[in-house]
Amino acid sequence: MLKSVVFLLRCNSNRIIRDQVRYASQALPQLSSEKYNVKRKQFGTVQESDINYFKSILSEERVLTDENDVLPFNIDWIKNCRGQSKVVLKPRSTEEVSKIVKYCNDKHLAVCPQGGNTGLVGGSVPVFDEVVLCLGLLNKIISLDEISGVLICEAGCILESLDTCVRERNLIMPLDLGAKGTCQIGGNASTNAGGLRLLRYGNLHGSILGIEAVKADGTVIDCLTTMKKDNTGYHLKHLFIGSEGTLGIVTKVSINCPVLPKAVTVGFFGVKDFQSVLKLYKSAKLSLGEILSAFEMADFNAINSSVTNLNLPNPIDEYPFYVLVETHGSDEGHDAEKLNRFLDKEMESGLIIDGTVTSEPAKMQTIWNLRESIAGSSLTRGYVFKYDVSIPLGNYYDLVPMLRKKLGNKALDVYGYGHIGDSNIHINIVVPEYTKEIGSQIEPYVFEEVSKLNGSISAEHGVGFRKPQYIHYSKNESALDLMRELKTLMDPKGILNPYKVLPEK
Ligand code: FAD
Ligand code: MLT
Ligand code: ZN
Repeated sequence: MLKSVVFLLRCNSNRIIRDQVRYASQALPQLSSEKYNVKRKQFGTVQESDINYFKSILSEERVLTDENDVLPFNIDWIKNCRGQSKVVLKPRSTEEVSKIVKYCNDKHLAVCPQGGNTGLVGGSVPVFDEVVLCLGLLNKIISLDEISGVLICEAGCILESLDTCVRERNLIMPLDLGAKGTCQIGGNASTNAGGLRLLRYGNLHGSILGIEAVKADGTVIDCLTTMKKDNTGYHLKHLFIGSEGTLGIVTKVSINCPVLPKAVTVGFFGVKDFQSVLKLYKSAKLSLGEILSAFEMADFNAINSSVTNLNLPNPIDEYPFYVLVETHGSDEGHDAEKLNRFLDKEMESGLIIDGTVTSEPAKMQTIWNLRESIAGSSLTRGYVFKYDVSIPLGNYYDLVPMLRKKLGNKALDVYGYGHIGDSNIHINIVVPEYTKEIGSQIEPYVFEEVSKLNGSISAEHGVGFRKPQYIHYSKNESALDLMRELKTLMDPKGILNPYKVLPEK
């Protein structure tokens, strides 16, 4: 029986994720089925004959059954969830995906699609013995049209690799997130990932122009258009964007890439309170206009978590709140001047107490690292309850002090940070260890409060395994009924990512 494990680092970035990999020789997370008291559904169990079939369509080495090999695919990034899969399949083409899924559907075997396994709501790992369908070998770039900016690629391409590739042609990927070195474009599509520049480039429902996906019965749905305008019938791509692997397996995407900004500038500011953060956001929109590409906030504890736990440098002093502003424009002198003028103006007004503005790549990187590392910065300190909610800006930060008061010294830390431009706040609650008791103090409290404030209980990470029972705080019964009807239509046997997204009736 395995007690500890050294995880494989499936990451081609030497940035954040590698810095934060903290898996070596640690105790395994509790099984999700026990921790959250879930009953296995009546699916088939993988038999030797099934393994032989999988080996016949893939090859011996692309069918993992060794316990050590399978283990990393059973555990999520934040180590909240652990499944019990016995087999991981690594298809290399849409045809192989289609054959596997059709076979599983015929045999009533449940399937858990997995991309980079950076999801934060337990959607990417099995709960019981679902077959893990690892998409990482579908990693070919099919075409890049330099004039239109349309990239067509397979689902397993890593976001950062795509970005590196399109940058050579003066383009960028329309999304960027701290997990870029590991997450895959198919995973991004399936979660409708938001990220750091959504306020400028919009979400994936807009940027993704077309999708190829495999339905539960193995049918390949080809909606891989490259046209920005295509009003021929229902817009089927949207069914797959954000459906977290429950309606189909995304195998290819076509995506619109914006032009590479000639000038990038980053400002990092210290601010005295949250009201000043909001005023600064309003002012930034007015002063920076079309060049504003990110407006992120983090409270002292959030930045301090990156500084103290990961030893990252903070380029300015300590303040109650921090704001990161980025511009993407076409004229370096003009953009830096604009940002500096904004800094001067708001230092004079007192909204900014201290700050730095830079266009030097290494310095910009230092600032972004500090922000992007918050996600994993407390994982070595204890157990992290993680929330990803959107709340109208006036009440955006309310929950953080409320939670601090409610939890008192039961929490080691509670902090808030996120994408102000999208009304999306992340709240991390660090406790010494997971207990049901502390869990029940936090949930459903957080979701109730978000609902009272007319927010969404999942702004960008999705519902996954961790939140189906709370989805009603953001969606009413009529919406949930239609979702169930869609699920039944597209996956009548319910084999695709069971226990995720939709609550039991
Ligand atoms: P996985 O984690 O493997 O899977 C996520 C979900 O999609 C699962 O339900 C899985 O079953 C399904 N899935 C994956 N691939 C496919 C496919 N090809 N077909 C069908 N279903 C599939 N998210 C944000 O939105 N914004 C952020 O700023 C952000 N920052 C992050 C920073 C860090 C450090 C980390 C660890 C995570 C962050 N995330 C963020 C969450 C996560 O990275 C995203 O949700 C990402 O899009 C997941 O991609 P993935 O390839 O890792 O998918
Ligand atoms: C982020 O904005 O950093 C990500 O969504 C991950 C997180 O919630 O920590
Ligand atoms: Zn985020």
